[in-house]
Amino acid sequence: MTHEDASLLRIEHLSKAFDGVQALNDVSFSVGAGEMVALIGPNGAGKTTCFNIINGQLEPDAGSVWLAGERIDGWPPQRVAVAGVGRTFQTAATFPSMTARENVQLALLAGAGKYGALGRRLAIAHRSEAGALLVRVGAGSLSEQVCASLSYPDAKRVELAVALAQPKRAPRLLLMDEPTAGTAPRDRGSVMELVSALARDSGVATLFTEHDVDVVFRFAARVIVLDRGRIIADGPPASVRADPRVQAVYLGTEG
Ligand SMILES: Nc1ncnc2c1ncn2[C@@H]1O[C@H](COP(=O)(O)OP(=O)(O)OP(=O)(O)O)[C@@H](O)[C@H]1O
Ligand SMILES: [Mg+2]
Repeated sequence: MTHEDASLLRIEHLSKAFDGVQALNDVSFSVGAGEMVALIGPNGAGKTTCFNIINGQLEPDAGSVWLAGERIDGWPPQRVAVAGVGRTFQTAATFPSMTARENVQLALLAGAGKYGALGRRLAIAHRSEAGALLVRVGAGSLSEQVCASLSYPDAKRVELAVALAQPKRAPRLLLMDEPTAGTAPRDRGSVMELVSALARDSGVATLFTEHDVDVVFRFAARVIVLDRGRIIADGPPASVRADPRVQAVYLGTEG
C-alpha cells in the first residue's frame, strides 16, 4: 500500500486505548524530511504511546502510520528500524556491562540480522563503523569504556549512536523520547545541539519529546502539542507559545 505524500512521516487518525484510558484520540500530523519537530504535552498526554506505535512496539486501535509513502503500522520494530527509523528511550538504554563500542556494534549486527554466535562475531563485526558513529556523536574517546561507568549525558550520546546504527541505510527519522531527561539543565543544550547538528548535517528528521520548555523553543522548528491524547496545537514555536489553549494546559507547568 502506498500513499502520495511529500512528508517523510505521516500519521493519520491514530487512536489507542489502555483499559479505558484513551492514550491517543484521533491524532494526525506529519514530519517533513530533515525537519526537527517537538512533540510536547503534560505527563500522560500520549507522547511515548505515539512513539511506540510509530516504531512498531504497539499496534494502534485505529489509524495509520506512513513512512515515505509506505504504510508501516503493524510492522515489527526491527522492520521499522531497517526502513530508516531510529529510536532512543525515555531512560538511557544501553547494555551496561558492554563498552560503548560494543553497544553500537551490537546494534549494527542486529540491523544486519546477524545475532548468531554473538560473542565471537562482536569482537570483529562493524568495529570501525561503530567507532565512526561514536566519533560522530562526540563519544569517540569513550569507545572502550563499559557503559555502566559512563555519566548519564555520555550514556545518552552512546544511545544516540545506537539509534543511528543501521548497516543497510542511515536512519531518515530519529524518534527521541526525552533526550535530555536526567540531564542537568546546563547540559541539556549540548545534548540537543548534538542532535540538531546531526539533523542538519545528515538530513535526518527528528521527532523529540521534551519537558524543558526552553529547550523545546530553542531547538524545534515546529511544535506539536498533545493534551490527554488529542492534538491541540501544531505550528511554528512562536505561534504555539502564544496559543491560549497551550498556555492553559502546558506552559508554566514544568513536567
Ligand atoms: N502499557 C500501558 N498500559 C496501560 N496504560 C498505559 C500504558 N502505556 C501508557 N498508558 C497510559 O496512557 C496514557 C499516555 O501515556 P504515555 O506514556 O504515552 O504519556 P507521555 O505523554 O509519554 O507521558 P510522560 O510525559 O509522563 O512520559 C497515560 O494515561 C498512561 O498511564
Ligand atoms: Mg513518555
